Amino acid sequence: MKIAVLPGDGIGTEIVAQAISVLQALALPFEFEHAAVGGAAYEAHGHPLPEATLKLAQQADAVLFGAVGDWKYDRLERHLRPEQAILGLRKHLGLFANFRPAICYPQLVDASSLKPELVAGLDILIIRELTGDIYFGQPRGRRSAPDGPFAGSEEAFDTMRYSRPEIERIAHVAFKAARQRNKKVTSVDKANVLETFQFWKDVVSAVHADYPDVALEHMYVDNAAMQLVKRPKAFDVIVTGNMFGDILSDEASMLTGSIGMLPSASLNERGQGLYEPSHGSAPDIAGQGVANPLATILSAAMMLRFSLGQPEAAARIEAAVQTVLEQGLRTPDIMAPGCTRVGTAQMGAAVRAALG
Ligand code: IPM
Ligand code: MN
Repeated sequence: MKIAVLPGDGIGTEIVAQAISVLQALALPFEFEHAAVGGAAYEAHGHPLPEATLKLAQQADAVLFGAVGDWKYDRLERHLRPEQAILGLRKHLGLFANFRPAICYPQLVDASSLKPELVAGLDILIIRELTGDIYFGQPRGRRSAPDGPFAGSEEAFDTMRYSRPEIERIAHVAFKAARQRNKKVTSVDKANVLETFQFWKDVVSAVHADYPDVALEHMYVDNAAMQLVKRPKAFDVIVTGNMFGDILSDEASMLTGSIGMLPSASLNERGQGLYEPSHGSAPDIAGQGVANPLATILSAAMMLRFSLGQPEAAARIEAAVQTVLEQGLRTPDIMAPGCTRVGTAQMGAAVRAALG
């Protein structure tokens, strides 16, 4: 089982190191191969996604990714910015299906910014389309406005677009996932304003005909943002486009106590996957040894389940995470009265010890 390890920037190296040590403790035949990505790759090779890194990712059975980005690269030309590394990997590997489960562990109910009764027992799954939408739509750029009241002034533009097959394949993923869960899909759109999302809604409804055992509801994204903090447990599977999914998954992370708890899996049609925490590189706390490694450790568990055919090993890691939370160990982002504050490495060591 060959795993490409791309730690990236900021806290990326610290949290990925802990996930790897947990994987190694499983004593399975993993082969880890490291490569530079993001700002770190730009510094070393002049590009955020060097050819060698992309090649390694393409040839591996799975990719374990940390995080990319740092304010110090904000002024670089767009194609050289660290974020282009993760966007390029998603596009080149065809990772169109992004799973972002938001689970509120019983031990973390009080860490959520919402009232305990709203989040206790929460288990929702956001499925974000990851290779289309305004993130990748062409044309985009800057120009002199060709028309309208501001004709002749400088303007910038992006293009929101989705094709039928792109929507169909993510809808199938969502309905299939819902079948394994509570059999409800909420498709989030902005059909009242955007042509792209009227089309999205129509195509998802058509795909639904294949899944009569799954309930489908449509919801506007503004309402979905509200319902996520009003009655989050009413959701089961949420399926949406790239940009709405980006925004709603950050919102959903706070229901779980901390974005430091949210793992993710990004899959292509061949079942190959990239696994990364849903959070960013947090340059403000990088190098201090205080970042929460649990989102990355849980992402490694998703990798075992989705790409490496090791569901028992995945379950062992997930159980170990629950155990350390039960023991009261907390990184600063989830710290609560009466708990024990630990750093990144101590948290990783505790998960290894709890594997049994
Ligand atoms: C995420 C991140 C990325 C995104 C950035 C780093 C490009 O926010 O994975 O959610 O917008 O998709
Ligand atoms: Mn995001």
